[in-house]
This record gives sequence, C-alpha cells and structure tokens, in this order.
Amino acid sequence: MSDRIARVALVTGTSSGIGEAVARELLRRNWRVVGASRRSAAIEVPRYTHFRIDLANVAELAARVEAAAGPLVADAAVVRVALVNSAANPGLLGPLGRIDPVEMQRVHAVNVTAPVWLMGWIVDRAARNAAVRIVNVSSGAASKAFPGLGVYVSSKAALRMAGMVFACELDSPDRPGGPHPDATILSYEPGVVDTAMQAAIRASSAETLPVVQMFKRLAAEGLLAPPERPAQEIADYLDHDKHLRFAERRLGDEPGA
Ligand SMILES: NC(=O)c1ccc[n+]([C@@H]2O[C@H](COP(=O)([O-])OP(=O)(O)OC[C@H]3O[C@@H](n4cnc5c(N)ncnc54)[C@H](OP(=O)(O)O)[C@@H]3O)[C@@H](O)[C@H]2O)c1
Repeated sequence: MSDRIARVALVTGTSSGIGEAVARELLRRNWRVVGASRRSAAIEVPRYTHFRIDLANVAELAARVEAAAGPLVADAAVVRVALVNSAANPGLLGPLGRIDPVEMQRVHAVNVTAPVWLMGWIVDRAARNAAVRIVNVSSGAASKAFPGLGVYVSSKAALRMAGMVFACELDSPDRPGGPHPDATILSYEPGVVDTAMQAAIRASSAETLPVVQMFKRLAAEGLLAPPERPAQEIADYLDHDKHLRFAERRLGDEPGA
C-alpha cells in the first residue's frame, strides 16, 4: 500500500449527516476512509475516496464495493478494518395498508440487504489477523413501535438482529478456520440527530406520521444532537479493543453499558 495507512474504514452515507461526520472524524484520526452514497461527498482530504452507488441496486453491490474498496481492505499491512453502515432510507412513511410493496423492497434493500451483505463481505475480505470493527447505525425504532414508521422500523429491527446472528456465526467453531479472532459488531442508536433525515421526518403530516409532533417538539426545544456527537462515539468504538462480539449502545451510554 502506497501511503502505509494501517487503518481503513468503509463508511456508507457519507454525503450527509452522521455518515459524513463519522468519515470526517476518522480522517481527523488518520484513518483511510472509503465513502459511499448516491451523491458525492463534500470531503476533500487525500485519505478519503468516494464512490457513488445506489445501495438499492443490490445486483451491482458486490462488484462495485469490491472495485472501490476490496484491495484496500485486504491489504496485509492494514491492521484495523472498519465498516460503518450509516446510509438508510427513511422513506415510505405512513400506515402499512398504504405501502407500495415494490418501494418497500427498495427501502429494505438499502437498510437491510446492503448493510447485512457488507458485514459478511468485509470480514471475509479483511486479512485474517486484522481487527474488524462493524457499526450498524440503528434506531430506537428498532425495538419500539411508532405508528407510521413500519417500513423503516422493520428494516432497523432486521439489521439489529442480523448483527446478532453474524456475531454467533463469528463465534462458531464450525466456521471455516474456526471462530474469528477479532471481529466485533456494535448496533448503535444515535438518538435524535440534527440531520436531513430528521428534517424530512418533521415535514410529514400527522396523518402520515401520527408521532410527528414529538419530532417537531424535540427540534423546537433544541434537543437534537449534532451529528458530530454520535460520530465521535462511533469512532471511539472503532479505535478500541476488548469489545463483546456483539454489543448495543445508545448515544451517551458509557462504553460497555
Ligand atoms: N437523524 C436521526 O435522528 C437518526 C435517528 C436514528 C437513526 N438514524 C440513522 O442514522 C443513519 C444516518 O442518517 P442521517 O440522520 O445521517 O440521515 P441523512 O443525513 O439523511 O443521511 C442519510 C445518508 O444515507 C445515504 N443514502 C440514502 N439512500 C441511499 C441509497 N439508496 N444508496 C446509497 N446511499 C443512500 C444518503 O446519501 P445519498 O442521498 O447521497 O445517497 C445520506 O448520505 C441512518 O441509518 C438513520 O436511520 C438517524
């Protein structure tokens, strides 16, 4: 590897919000970062490269990700590899009876299929002796029912569960080569964060999203966290060791809580 960078991260959703803040925080800490989203990112740092991809197009996922990040992730000089699944589509708000199934499949492709596949890919592609750290950006909605958010919350619940399952697989003696020596997964709830996604949710009608008033009140009372706060906690996790194989954490929790 030309620039001898020992830590490499693949971060999705770096054109905006939490994904962008995570990429910037990792770059500040001298990581090499590959970012992905449909739009380009406003990050101009030599250690950052971006590839534009619609994660809903799962048929092209493997080839595009391999081309953008495969050799970097697999480099034997890399001792720490990270994946941050931040990209998500909060769309299709509204009562489940009104949901278009084709659109629902697209949302689940972005929010579940792509991040779940990426977890498997990065562990397989990283050198066996590299520490692998995965953060799936989850939501309080992964384990709490909010009317009008059925598609989004079902996707977050699925991603959370897939992380738990993958942790069991990594622990399994039946895994080829035995349990993975150092791959861990964090399902991370960032709280209510001041991003484009929150603004879009607040713009919903009460008919579409009966709990919209709660989101408006949180914003009006200045209770939204800046994206830099969850980004810092995510970067701390990626930089550290001795994690449980699978852990869950909310913004502001003590590590290990
Ligand atoms: N903000 C909150 O309060 C909050 C609360 C709980 C959980 N979260 C979670 O936090 C994560 C980040 O959200 P955010 O708040 O930072 O929202 P955001 O600012 O809207 O960012 C969403 C990111 O996802 C990317 N994305 C969306 N659809 C995509 C697609 N089809 N292909 C590739 N990339 C796609 C977007 O990029 P492009 O549009 O350029 O593709 C963008 O970079 C999400 O997983 C969200 O569910 C947020």
